Amino acid sequence: MVKPAHHESAEAHVTGEALYTDDLVSRFPHLLHAWPVLSPHAHALVTYLNVADALEEPGVVDTLLAADVPGEGNTGANRHDELLFPVEITYHSQPVAWVLGETLEAARLGAARVVVQFEVLPAIVTIQDAISAKSFHSGPLRIRRGDAAAAIDDAPHTLAGELSIGGQEHFYLETQCAIARYDETGGIHVESSTQHPAETQEIVARVLGIARNQVTVQCTRMGGAFGGKEVQANPYAAIAALGTWKTKRPVRVRLPRRLDMALTGKRHPFFARFRVGFDADGLLRGLDLELYSDGGWSIDLSEPVLWRALFHSDNAYLVPALDARGWVCHTHKTSQTAFRGFGGPQGMVVIEDILERIARTLRLDPHVVRERNFYSEGDVTHYGQPVKDAGRIERIWNRLKETSEFNLRRAEIARFNAAHPHCKRGLAITPAKFGISFTATFFNQAGALVLVYRDGSVQVNHGGTEMGQGLHTKIREIAAQGLGVTVDAVRVMPTRTDKVPNTSATAASAGTDLNGAAVLDACTQIRARLVPVAAEMLGCDPAAVRFAAGRVSGGSGDIDIASVLDAAYRKRIPLFAHGFYRTPEIHFDAKTATGKPFHYFAYGAAVSEVEIDGFTGAHRLLRADLLQDIGDSIVPLVDLGQIEGGFVQGAGWLTLEELVWDAQGRLATNGASTYKLPSWPEMPEVFNVAFLERATEPGVIFGSKAVGEPPLMLAISVREAIREAIAAFGCECGGPVELDSPATPERIFWAVGKARRR
Ligand code: MTE
Ligand code: MOS
Repeated sequence: MVKPAHHESAEAHVTGEALYTDDLVSRFPHLLHAWPVLSPHAHALVTYLNVADALEEPGVVDTLLAADVPGEGNTGANRHDELLFPVEITYHSQPVAWVLGETLEAARLGAARVVVQFEVLPAIVTIQDAISAKSFHSGPLRIRRGDAAAAIDDAPHTLAGELSIGGQEHFYLETQCAIARYDETGGIHVESSTQHPAETQEIVARVLGIARNQVTVQCTRMGGAFGGKEVQANPYAAIAALGTWKTKRPVRVRLPRRLDMALTGKRHPFFARFRVGFDADGLLRGLDLELYSDGGWSIDLSEPVLWRALFHSDNAYLVPALDARGWVCHTHKTSQTAFRGFGGPQGMVVIEDILERIARTLRLDPHVVRERNFYSEGDVTHYGQPVKDAGRIERIWNRLKETSEFNLRRAEIARFNAAHPHCKRGLAITPAKFGISFTATFFNQAGALVLVYRDGSVQVNHGGTEMGQGLHTKIREIAAQGLGVTVDAVRVMPTRTDKVPNTSATAASAGTDLNGAAVLDACTQIRARLVPVAAEMLGCDPAAVRFAAGRVSGGSGDIDIASVLDAAYRKRIPLFAHGFYRTPEIHFDAKTATGKPFHYFAYGAAVSEVEIDGFTGAHRLLRADLLQDIGDSIVPLVDLGQIEGGFVQGAGWLTLEELVWDAQGRLATNGASTYKLPSWPEMPEVFNVAFLERATEPGVIFGSKAVGEPPLMLAISVREAIREAIAAFGCECGGPVELDSPATPERIFWAVGKARRR
């Protein structure tokens, strides 16, 4: 089998020839640029708004205000709670109006001349304030198993605690961007950097008050998305479309970094409160858990994100009795949204934090307490789903301990730590179990449209979007194998709503599972139509016909696929097909919080080693060993990149990246100068990544498994290694290491001080 060595756009990425939405600007000579008028308050009423001066600004062509909206001026995907032109400002920098200019500079200068007056209202900026004020979008969402309170009370040991977990900026390299124009047929065409073109189409149609068939949305590729463009591309596409509607000219919206950071949602910060009961061996008996997420000004995807946090508050462990409740806090901040892992990481950090506290309370090694609590075959999660392949958790764990020389290095580290009073190393291993599928069952569907030309070349359209994760590369491989042509013969076309309608977001790591299966369905249909034609040409039994790499063989014959296609065409056989896929056997009832929301689980584990400087709290990641279950890899190099990238992104979230909002609700960390991102020096000095062997996943395209999000959660091992190292500054009898996330040098420094005093 010929495998493409690398990402289908790798050369174009490197040479700069790959086109992103904003690169299309030069194609539209009469294009206008849009710039927002921002609110300087997090919570306020707009009492006066006058754009007359702005229209005097040279180069300013028009403005966009509530009265210009022909349809519904609301881009909230589910609850319709996102006014495009708000009367009540609900987060700092919220756009009040937009100005259209011949140049970006003109639009900016015009926006500065818009006169707005506000009546300032008190703002809720922290989760704690939201809890006190009972300011919630939603909640409690609840998953229960057994009588957790009784199980905790009856347990030999109990612990209670709290944990704050910070959010994360997506920092996709390409910021939010859309270009709208009237197309050749009088419809609205929007080029959008969106993970969900069908929803962007829906929102544009809603705002313009027109039918969806009047709107075409295309996404050629994104320069990263990470969940940040699952719904949050929509308002910018809507503004561009509205500008086009009003002026009849192409309109471009692109947020520069500072605005993108100030305006768009992030990973949800969480606050957790827990009470846990356990026995002398560290076995969990019962857990009572409250999760509060910071949803920001609108609901966005906060509910499903919180569900996923609740689903993953077991990680890889059997919690016999559990009462997990969650609230989405309504704060006057950006509207927090999907981010790689979608709440799963926060849920998993909490349970890993708890297991460490249990271990240190009992003076056991955290890795021992972890493995004692693993799920085994036959176990069921707290929401009632059997943990299929639970045995893989231990298989991965034991294999990784071996390949990473876990025990040997623990002994070495103990010696190192004994010899270094001001510098300590820590080694930790953590598992990860991540559920694959959208928890909203209806999203688990996908369509494709495959066109085969008579020369044997192929165009593949499918509903998924490319954001750098390599979906198109995998689709190309699937189509090539599905049709029996070479990879070079297959072109994956830009994602467009007029090729495949009503598609789901490319998210939940399910892009290949869903769209790949739909593409294969189409290819299989086309191939089945070709078989009798080929059998006749080859003079063989239809059952003997084989398609591979552009050749068709059977009996003793071997012919070019183009000749078969041409013959089929002459027999008036269609050489194109649409494919469809829906994930079988999944369901979830939110009322009882039970069901089988996931098609399967992706498993993995990681060992991380860190070194902490006790004087500064700075840490270095010395080595990371990852083992991920990806089934049979369709494109190994792409999967490797996903695992490495996901891990480093997770380590950034847990150790470096700190979002700071000031008391007025203004994001103080709104650029790369104040928001620390992982870069080359933060990469582990030794980085070993392996795929689990003999891991074919039945019932998934080509036996593969989703890989987009799961590896991010392997980075929890870095956080746990840091806690190990902090503990090493104290005495043997030291208790749990309390450490809020992210583990910045400052937090580590204070935690080291606390450990030393014990
Ligand atoms: N990888 C790159 N390079 N860029 C991205 O934006 N997004 C992640 C992951 N990997 C992302 C990425 C997220 S949040 C998801 S859900 C998946 O890719 C989506 O793509 P898939 O379903 O095709 O894996
Ligand atoms: Mo990914 S957070 O599901 O877009």
